Amino acid sequence: MSLASDRVAGGGRPAPRHFLELMDHDAATLRRMLDLGVQAKRGQVEGKPLAGKTVALIFEKPSTRTRVSFEVGIRQLGGDAIVLSSKDMQLGRGETPADTARVLSRYVDAIMLRTDNVAKIRELAEHATIPVINGLTDVSHPCQLMADLMTFEEHRGPIAGQVVAWTGDGNNVAQSFIQAAARFDFTLRLATPPELAPPAQLVDWARREGARIELTADPHAAVAGARCVVTDTWVSMSDEKGDAQISRHNLLAPYQLNAALLKGAAPDAIVMHCLPAHRGEEITDEVMDGPQSVVFDEAENRLHAQKGVLLWALGAA
Ligand code: CP
Ligand code: NVA
Repeated sequence: MSLASDRVAGGGRPAPRHFLELMDHDAATLRRMLDLGVQAKRGQVEGKPLAGKTVALIFEKPSTRTRVSFEVGIRQLGGDAIVLSSKDMQLGRGETPADTARVLSRYVDAIMLRTDNVAKIRELAEHATIPVINGLTDVSHPCQLMADLMTFEEHRGPIAGQVVAWTGDGNNVAQSFIQAAARFDFTLRLATPPELAPPAQLVDWARREGARIELTADPHAAVAGARCVVTDTWVSMSDEKGDAQISRHNLLAPYQLNAALLKGAAPDAIVMHCLPAHRGEEITDEVMDGPQSVVFDEAENRLHAQKGVLLWALGAA
């Protein structure tokens, strides 16, 4: 929340530190957020840096990890969180994201939004005078990537120069992986059915940024020798309409992360999945519960990595 005089004054006020897409930030800024998250995890963040700050957490879609990790993280940093379902807000019956942003900017200090339409979070951020954080859209999940990067580096050291393989749908998480590859200098091999490949425009952007992005329809080719193998649900929340799900299941069945596929990865490869998992579909129990899986460390790291994002966004560290 800013003072009325600040709001009215307009020019001269620094732009809010939004966290909408990884591509919006340079590598050093993202590394700073990650380092803050690691410090928070190690108990090296002093005092209650978010004391007196309130964050609105708005969900248009269900959530377990994002909801709980943000709420707990904000409290642990000394702040307050208000969890809101868009169904219970006027946003859910047509009030614009712009007007919602103008109003909430006068009550709270930051907004986290989970939405199935990226245009809404862009509009919210354009009109908010406080930071807006992306808690998942139809095309991105940057908070998940911050946790995934932290998890890889905890287990296997610096991610720069490593090979990460994605098998499955070229969905929102895959698209944030592409952005991460451009900023964190790792090779990303994505195996998807051609129909579910990530957008060419995004891949072109990443390659122009110098990223090593390899696209294939063959999961075995993608996984060969990789240090990290990642998958995600075959039906994302933004795809849950009609019977398109049946054809997705048929298309994606050959991309299942199972023991036979994992065998082709580096012997010390780790397995990641943002969760929730659909066991027996995109990942088998054997792999998810196996010795190479770090999926629950990854879930825990949502808490720590998002503290880094919050401390950066709110200028509290
Ligand atoms: N990975 C993730 O964002 O989980 P939730 O949908 O439970 O928040
Ligand atoms: N791709 C999944 C991620 C859930 C955290 C979805 O959008 O539903």
